[in-house]
Amino acid sequence: MKIAVIQGPNLNMLGVREKNVYGPMTLEQIHEQMKSSAAQNGIELEFFQSNLEGEIVDKIQECLGEVQGIIINPAAYTHTSIAIRDALAAVALPTVEVHISNIYKREEFRQKSITAASSTGVIAGFGPFGYHMALIALTQICTEIKAIEEAQKNQAK
Ligand code: DQA
Repeated sequence: MKIAVIQGPNLNMLGVREKNVYGPMTLEQIHEQMKSSAAQNGIELEFFQSNLEGEIVDKIQECLGEVQGIIINPAAYTHTSIAIRDALAAVALPTVEVHISNIYKREEFRQKSITAASSTGVIAGFGPFGYHMALIALTQICTEIKAIEEAQKNQAK
């Protein structure tokens, strides 16, 4: 099973940017932790970070046929990007949207996620641990989908 982890603008600055909001961990450290817990469950992770909306849209499109699920933190594009929302809807893969901070208790402009409607579910406010939670959730969803597909295949025989 392969999962894409897509990180939006300024998340490459984790560990430096607004530590009081996002904590001290770097993106690399978060990804290392994810990699080791994924490996224990035989899951392959592909990491991607971009500060550019179009590159994120391209990456989401490339996920089709390549991965079974997406973990995405669209960062500031969460609140603005119809293009990312549409790309997620187009590929229609199981998707978990993650926010390190609790966007619902921050500035008003952060309290609306445009992209969330194209996700299976959203995790917000648990710090970097949210990525780990997303991995558990997505693994479960993908396992269930696989089981259903196999049952359908067996029925058709
Ligand atoms: C964020 C929340 C967004 O509002 C913000 O623009 C980010 C990070 C989060 O993970 O809490 O860059 O997505």
